[in-house]
Amino acid sequence: MRVYLNGEYVGREQAVVPVDDRGFLFGDGVYEVVRVVNGQLFEADRHWRRLERSLDGLQIRQPAGLDGAALDAIAQRLLEENGLGDAHALVYVQITRGAAVRTHHFPPEGTRPTVFVSAGPFSPPDAVRTRGASVITCADIRWARCDLKTVNLLPNTLAKQRAVAAGADEAVFVRDGVVTEGASSNLFGVFGGELRTYPATNYILPGITRDVVLELATELGIPVRLAPIFVDELPRADELFLTNTTSDVMPIVRVDGQPAGGGRPGPVTGRLSAAFIERMPAGAMRAATV
Ligand code: PDD
Repeated sequence: MRVYLNGEYVGREQAVVPVDDRGFLFGDGVYEVVRVVNGQLFEADRHWRRLERSLDGLQIRQPAGLDGAALDAIAQRLLEENGLGDAHALVYVQITRGAAVRTHHFPPEGTRPTVFVSAGPFSPPDAVRTRGASVITCADIRWARCDLKTVNLLPNTLAKQRAVAAGADEAVFVRDGVVTEGASSNLFGVFGGELRTYPATNYILPGITRDVVLELATELGIPVRLAPIFVDELPRADELFLTNTTSDVMPIVRVDGQPAGGGRPGPVTGRLSAAFIERMPAGAMRAATV
């Protein structure tokens, strides 16, 4: 596979980052994961805007010339060079504060951020979507800037590992009795026909999939309330689902080993899932079911 590193297109094994890169030393960087359907990036502009916002939040200067159009072009070239022009794929972008002598404070002005982009094949998780996912709850021990998509993901990886060890698909975070989001997803509930999800504050990542689902709900006439879901409410939700770039709309059917959200994928989730797939570049549905 060929990847992009700091302006060069190289084989993955030639893409080497210095050991004093601040991404390696401090998790001092940001990232994006973009879905590609039949060779087309899905909602790329929103991903590039969020990347810019994450860079701003960490005070990393956007590398010169690396705007949304440039990222689109890099992604397209990688898709072509890797033979993914008409496939399902994921594009990964990571920008760190760069390599410099280790100090906790920022490195000298002029330190060049490290820019890495890769594109790889992807299979949509259709089987899990059909049966529904199981989740566990766990304490949200993250910092108070969860709205920035940083590579500092230790609480998320620990939570996900707990889920895997419990035979579950995802961990959902609970802060002060309230479910914020998943380890790598946003969480929605349906209560009496109303769709509810945590508001876009500093305690969650404002998911691109979440945004699209909220738009689709409005288009479909499904009432929406941006408000917390209390962990005690999970067992009596009519439906529960997760959203993210790698799962689209993913029904939840078990929470902490107990049936939840009606115990099977529900009708509101189904409508939103179908509308979401419809919204993706033409052919997503056919490609996914072949
Ligand atoms: N994660 N919340 C968290 C903590 C996430 O890491 C993600 C995505 C989301 C959903 O965001 P989006 O809909 O834009 O993918 C919510 C990606 C997929 C990842 O880390 O691989």
